Amino acid sequence: MAFQLQNVVPWGRNFEEYQLMFELSDLDRNLKIAGFGDGPASFNFEATKKGWSVTSFDGVYQFGGEELRRRIEEVRSIVMAQMAANQNNYNWRHIRSLAELESVRMAAMAQFLHDYELGKAQKRYICHELPAKLPYADGSFDLGLSSHFLLLYPTLGYDFHIASITEMLRVCREVRIFPIVDLDGKPTELTGRVIRHFERTHAVAVKTVPYEFQKGGNQLLAIKKASPDFFYSMP
Ligand SMILES: C[S@@+](CC[C@H](N)C(=O)[O-])C[C@H]1O[C@@H](n2cnc3c(N)ncnc32)[C@H](O)[C@@H]1O
Repeated sequence: MAFQLQNVVPWGRNFEEYQLMFELSDLDRNLKIAGFGDGPASFNFEATKKGWSVTSFDGVYQFGGEELRRRIEEVRSIVMAQMAANQNNYNWRHIRSLAELESVRMAAMAQFLHDYELGKAQKRYICHELPAKLPYADGSFDLGLSSHFLLLYPTLGYDFHIASITEMLRVCREVRIFPIVDLDGKPTELTGRVIRHFERTHAVAVKTVPYEFQKGGNQLLAIKKASPDFFYSMP
């Protein structure tokens, strides 16, 4: 499906949130990381500043920085109104209020916009829509991440997810997806089916992590080539 700017709702998280969601530590600074559906998150910018290697892939990178900035401003009040209406579905321990949420998200997206042109020139922001084949050789990345994209929208369908994750696993040695629930914070049949599909050929692990903004969203799914130190549990 073609990306149209009026259908895009840009909303981005920051490096600290990615660290908590994906259990990243300073030990991972030497990994080659691919972020799928990174959108206007500041993860790439902040990680690059720290000397990490991150390449982000998203269909929205076909748009210019000014178009994305305008779209972010257009949707800002709509997204915040939705958050206000659904605030009981979120934990307000780390981010303590709607006002703080808006400021954290806008700060992350401002950092992204500031970095966007340079990042594009440095090929850190690549316009790409899963499940299309990525312009990279097998095993080009150590770790592939999907934050708030795969598994969150079951309407994208089982086939879309299998094809997308298969392509991610072609270019990445390991893939981590967070969260593994839907937008209502509920476990889905999709997650179970995706786990069952990949556990036939890969090591699959579900891990609880110290990040739970959306209630119920505190687990990541990790998929990689089989190894004995990997554990598996159904969500
Ligand atoms: C909710 S946003 C999450 C942004 C970022 N990962 C974060 O957590 O802050 C979902 C992102 O997935 C991207 N996306 C949707 N469909 C995609 C596809 N087929 N291929 C790549 N990215 C896609 C959207 O453009 C959007 O930026």
